Amino acid sequence: MAKKLHIETFGCQMNFSDSEIVASVMTDHSHVLTDDPSEADIIFLNTCSIRDHAEQRVLNRLRELQHLRRKSPGLVLGVIGCMAERLKEKLLEEEELGMRVDMVAGPDAYRQLPQLLANVEAGKQAINVILSAEETYADITPVRYGDNPVSAFISIMRGCENHCAYCVVPSTRGRERSRDPESVLSEARQLVDAGYKEVTLLGQNVNSYRWERSDEVVDFSRLIGMVASVDSSLRVRFATSHPKDMSDALLEQMARYNNICKAIHLPLQSGSTSVLRRMNRKYTREDYLGRIDAIRGILPGCAVSTDIIAGFCGETEEEHRETLSLMQEVGFDFAFMFKYSERPDTLAAQRYADDVPDKVKTRRLTEVIELQQKLSLASNERDVGSVQEVLAEGFSKRSDDYMMGRTSHNKVVVFPAENVKPGDYLTVRITSCTSATLKGEKV
Ligand code: SAH
Ligand code: SF4
Ligand code: F3S
Repeated sequence: MAKKLHIETFGCQMNFSDSEIVASVMTDHSHVLTDDPSEADIIFLNTCSIRDHAEQRVLNRLRELQHLRRKSPGLVLGVIGCMAERLKEKLLEEEELGMRVDMVAGPDAYRQLPQLLANVEAGKQAINVILSAEETYADITPVRYGDNPVSAFISIMRGCENHCAYCVVPSTRGRERSRDPESVLSEARQLVDAGYKEVTLLGQNVNSYRWERSDEVVDFSRLIGMVASVDSSLRVRFATSHPKDMSDALLEQMARYNNICKAIHLPLQSGSTSVLRRMNRKYTREDYLGRIDAIRGILPGCAVSTDIIAGFCGETEEEHRETLSLMQEVGFDFAFMFKYSERPDTLAAQRYADDVPDKVKTRRLTEVIELQQKLSLASNERDVGSVQEVLAEGFSKRSDDYMMGRTSHNKVVVFPAENVKPGDYLTVRITSCTSATLKGEKV
């Protein structure tokens, strides 16, 4: 019987993309989607384990949702995604968890969701956390149920085998595998036909994308060229690049296509070679700066954003200052910044003591954030007076008189809404800025 399904997604873009696969599997089994949890028969939380805080948010939400059981006793509450994979059966132990979860499915088990639901209804255990070396969901057309009719994600690979010492992803997402390029292209074509103007190619480390069949090899730089050729008015973005694998061939390919956006997310984590070694990142401070030089040489003006972890195991004050000095040297346009959070069973948890006191981590993170705010402001100030192509996405949060869109550099621009609709490309002169947004007007 058709049930109403509500999905809530936590964590990274990969998870948002996976929720569209889940929506597709479930609607193919005649269930319908609802964005109102109070009228749902099934609620899935697609979860993230990257930091302890991410898991706490999910547990809080699960606790909040328990009250809905009183109203609808048949409610099925499922935990899917990375936290399902990490905690497995523990999520079904009601006494341990302090609340009831009805089903658990890891990231490679989404085809089995209808079966797991049938198990719940039959009063049987409903858990599948088997990771696969092959599953890419290549044949499943994601259901785009979000509210962005302009920009969509295309997942091009799954899993990760980099084993950065702090990271749970290799154990929650399993072996690295690439998706058939033909299925990526046909998804891009479908999106163009449906009116989408931008796609983001997703993987934990897109630069190691590799598809081999007989004598043909498609690597990431080839793939992105193929996607960019689908339609010259389709913007193409990608995330994430690992500094150890980001090739000049990719940069040259980006230079070749106007519609590949000039923005690279290149997670640094730390500016100190000794910390990077403990993190098992496989590049040094100098290697990283060498990649930045290559970007500046091949793609002048390209935006560079990053991720930084403050207070990793054994981080000294001097090592921390090396992160600040590298940030200053590169002048990142944007950054995601985190306090190190020890994750059970990772290399770091096994090998090193989580020995930077929380107060010190917090102070270092604050220094990193304050510096980045200055760098972001400086980056935005450099754009004031320039004229840029902006893809309009929707109305601004503050007022319906204004819309927001993005530049090729992935910066948000707010501009008067008059005569503009979502999906339009327009030429905008940047008139002012804050550290977070640009303001402009149509020229
Ligand atoms: N695959 C991507 C990142 C995935 S996780 C990459 O390699 O760049 C996103 C970010 O979360 C990471 O770049 C890192 O900065 C941060 N992160 C991962 N594990 C963490 C941990 N245990 N504590 C704090 N931050 C963490
Ligand atoms: Fe985690 Fe490193 Fe893989 Fe990124 S590359 S997902 S940080 S292990
Ligand atoms: Fe989180 Fe899993 Fe993504 S741990 S960051 S949802 S891959």
